[in-house]
Amino acid sequence: MKINKICCIGAGYVGGPTMAVIAKKNPNLKVTIVDINEERIAAWNDSDVSKLPIYEPGLAEIVAETRGKNLFFSTEIDKAIDESEMIFISVNTPTKTYGKGKGMAADLKYVELCARNIAKVATTDKIVVEKSTLPVRTAQAIKSILSNTGSGVNFDILSNPEFLAEGTAVQDLLNPDRVLIGGDSEEAIDRLANIYGSWVPQDKILRTNVWSSELSKLTANAFLAQRVSSINAISELCEHTEADVNEVAKAIGMDSRIGSKFLQASIGFGGSCFQKDILNLVYIARSYGLHEVADYWEQVIILNDHQKRRFSDHLIKTLYNTVSGKKIAMLGWAFKKDTNDTRESAAIFVADHLLNEQAEIAVYDPKVSKDKIQSDLNYLNTRSPEENQQLLQSKNSPYEALDDAHAVAIMTEWDEFKTYDWEKIYKQMKKPAFIFDGRNILDKAEMNKIGFEYYSIGK
Ligand code: NAD
Ligand code: UDX
Repeated sequence: MKINKICCIGAGYVGGPTMAVIAKKNPNLKVTIVDINEERIAAWNDSDVSKLPIYEPGLAEIVAETRGKNLFFSTEIDKAIDESEMIFISVNTPTKTYGKGKGMAADLKYVELCARNIAKVATTDKIVVEKSTLPVRTAQAIKSILSNTGSGVNFDILSNPEFLAEGTAVQDLLNPDRVLIGGDSEEAIDRLANIYGSWVPQDKILRTNVWSSELSKLTANAFLAQRVSSINAISELCEHTEADVNEVAKAIGMDSRIGSKFLQASIGFGGSCFQKDILNLVYIARSYGLHEVADYWEQVIILNDHQKRRFSDHLIKTLYNTVSGKKIAMLGWAFKKDTNDTRESAAIFVADHLLNEQAEIAVYDPKVSKDKIQSDLNYLNTRSPEENQQLLQSKNSPYEALDDAHAVAIMTEWDEFKTYDWEKIYKQMKKPAFIFDGRNILDKAEMNKIGFEYYSIGK
């Protein structure tokens, strides 16, 4: 089977950038990305590429170069499945919000719907690629659905988890540390390896059995999140001992066995992956009766929740134990810089906590829309949408958000925050003017010199 046409079900943060890069690097391959969300597909097709539904540095340029040539966005899911030899499933796999495993297990209903749709539509042999992050042994369920169609169509199932990080998705895709392909058909693996092979050296394309591939993705995210929780745990100890967490991170990171990356203390990790994937890992371990394993990984989440909570507790305590009626300016709402994604962002939880204490919040984020900020808060259901709208306002400029504020809380490490005129900001704010730098991006000595009371993490 020669691969001429591929499709990807799910035009999200993974499906969009991944397929755009595959299309760029394989001009002879027709790549169609499909989604049930008509609005999202319309945004991907917007003639103004600054209006794409996802902001990622470098993505708009690649979409502009490939769209309409060999990259297509569509809601015609059945048509795309029918004509493609290879189908990627890249739909969301959120934490279950109901039934067995609620709050822990991954909700696989969207993946199952895709498998059933492929089973229904396919009339020719297909390679089905799991791109979504899935619990180990999910391929078994997909295989079972696809092998019971009675249509005589042959399906090969591959696991090909995605390791890109948001904000650097395009660079991560162009220069991956590795591409992982799990499967039991060497021929099917070869076909997928050939697609990546047009830009990734073959020695970086790792082949494993399908279960190792599925489990490696959960494990990679668990290890990465564990590093953040580890340095955040040490940050609290630093605050009690006059050690400086940045100095500790540098000192341990120079040990080549530890390595220097992913040791940035923060208000806690966010994003759609870490928490969801660790909860899923914990759930799987418990379901096999491995309670010590489950408890070990669960601690990563417990520590992260503690880090978010202690940031807002510290802010309230420092503002003389009350923020009621005080204006708090929040810089950043996205879960990290260079993305418009806000899923599980620490900013949401800190804002909710401060609003419970009757603070008035003004937010500025360079890429997150006002509607998104309100809907993130409303989703928590802590108070009515009207109250949220009244108590939290999004501003078009940082200086507007900071005007007359008692304190500023830095929630996201956007580069532009470092370049602001902090002297001007100081003059605009109420005195004493407080900065709570949840990302350690500003210089303490400089801020103190201007007159700010400056607090950061782990110092
Ligand atoms: P997303 O929510 O941005 O996108 C998923 C898309 O799938 C949505 O647009 C949704 O409308 C669509 N969809 C759902 N069910 C569908 C169906 N039956 N038919 C057609 N379309 C359907 O999610 P994402 O962030 O792209 O994540 C996708 C998967 O990749 C998840 O399993 C996630 O864990 C994994 N992952 C995400 C990242 C990341 O950085 N976001 C990185 C690696 C892996
Ligand atoms: C993560 C994984 O890195 C990626 O490989 C996987 O495919 C998806 O999940 P992502 O969530 O997009 O990527 O971003 P990442 O850079 O990992 O950051 C996650 C969170 O951890 C962010 O909130 C970030 O601010 C925080 N973080 C990261 C820290 O607080 N300190 C660090 O040192 C690194």
